[in-house]
Amino acid sequence: MSFSILATDPTTSARRGRLVLPHGTVETPIFMPVGTQGTVKTLHPAELEQLGSQIILGNTYHLWLRPGHELIRELGGLHGFSTWRKPMLTDSGGFQVWSLAKLRKITEEGVRFQNHLDGSKMLLTPELSMEIQGALGSDIAMLFDECPPYPCDEAYAAKSLALTTRWAKRCKDWVTENEPRSGEGRQQHFGIVQGSIYADLREQSARELVELGFDGYAIGGVSVGEPEHEMFRAIENAVPFLPHDKPRYAMGLGTPPQILEMISRGVDMFDCVMPTRIARHGMAMTLDGPINIKNLIHAKDPRPLCESAHPHVAGFSRAYLRHLFRAGEILGLRLLSFHNLHFYLSLVAGAREAIAAGNFPAYKDSFIRRYTRTDT
Ligand code: GUN
Repeated sequence: MSFSILATDPTTSARRGRLVLPHGTVETPIFMPVGTQGTVKTLHPAELEQLGSQIILGNTYHLWLRPGHELIRELGGLHGFSTWRKPMLTDSGGFQVWSLAKLRKITEEGVRFQNHLDGSKMLLTPELSMEIQGALGSDIAMLFDECPPYPCDEAYAAKSLALTTRWAKRCKDWVTENEPRSGEGRQQHFGIVQGSIYADLREQSARELVELGFDGYAIGGVSVGEPEHEMFRAIENAVPFLPHDKPRYAMGLGTPPQILEMISRGVDMFDCVMPTRIARHGMAMTLDGPINIKNLIHAKDPRPLCESAHPHVAGFSRAYLRHLFRAGEILGLRLLSFHNLHFYLSLVAGAREAIAAGNFPAYKDSFIRRYTRTDT
């Protein structure tokens, strides 16, 4: 069994778990920094390790188009190619085709689209997505799915979900025939629950995927523009139908308070571009909420970004960091990216400790109260 639950919170659905993968062990709940192109933007792999990152993300779509999965396979898979030694999860590509490519068309076969780099016509299928992820050699490969937009009527959501289930079956068949690796080196495969905002469809999707049987289950199609309460409902509508003893992953989420809310609803894994993306725009996370370091208010501020800052960043004043951004210096992007990832990784490390100690609700409430307080 590669996933074990070490502790559960007595009053919420939060769990403290451990996931054993080919490239190492992941303590859950966990946040996974996003490394779309095989790099977490601006950071050296040694810095990611210094931050205590346990697993990072890569993307099938981007790496397939450039530099190509066969080249990456030849150069040691994504681990050898990037020098990142710890676990990696790859997304399956459908979601990225949808958000980046031009002239997309979904058919039973897969998604036809025009490559956003050179305009050529391409087809990504469930089988090809699994083949690419096999070549990349990630520890966890996501199944190829369709993520319906929001808003989305129930008839479309039902049709889309039926397609996602048929694609899941094709992914499984491809893996069974082509990836006979077993034991500890085996790539894991996670199904993705869809169903938009419809409770019965979320249940149906979860049941169908569980029937097919995967190593873990993600909840997709969230944070696509729906109000926050719908996002929480989507999680609540899926989780009861997922196996207790398998990891659960909420895709592409979220703000720090949302992550704690989802941990309390039984989610174990998260990824989000937000901490690194907003860092490159000068936004830094603090225990009192996000701040824009470019603001005039920080011009002469000798204080560090945050009392919980990592020693690597804590020595720099807000005034100096503001100066770096105003001068367009790359170090500013690097330091804020490092800082925001430290903030997220500390948030989930704190959640793990609190669940083990039996005081997760108090940890969550006090974090959210301070983070969202507006009177400071
Ligand atoms: N990333 C964020 N949401 C999704 C989703 O619904 N599906 C996939 N494959 N990736 C995602």
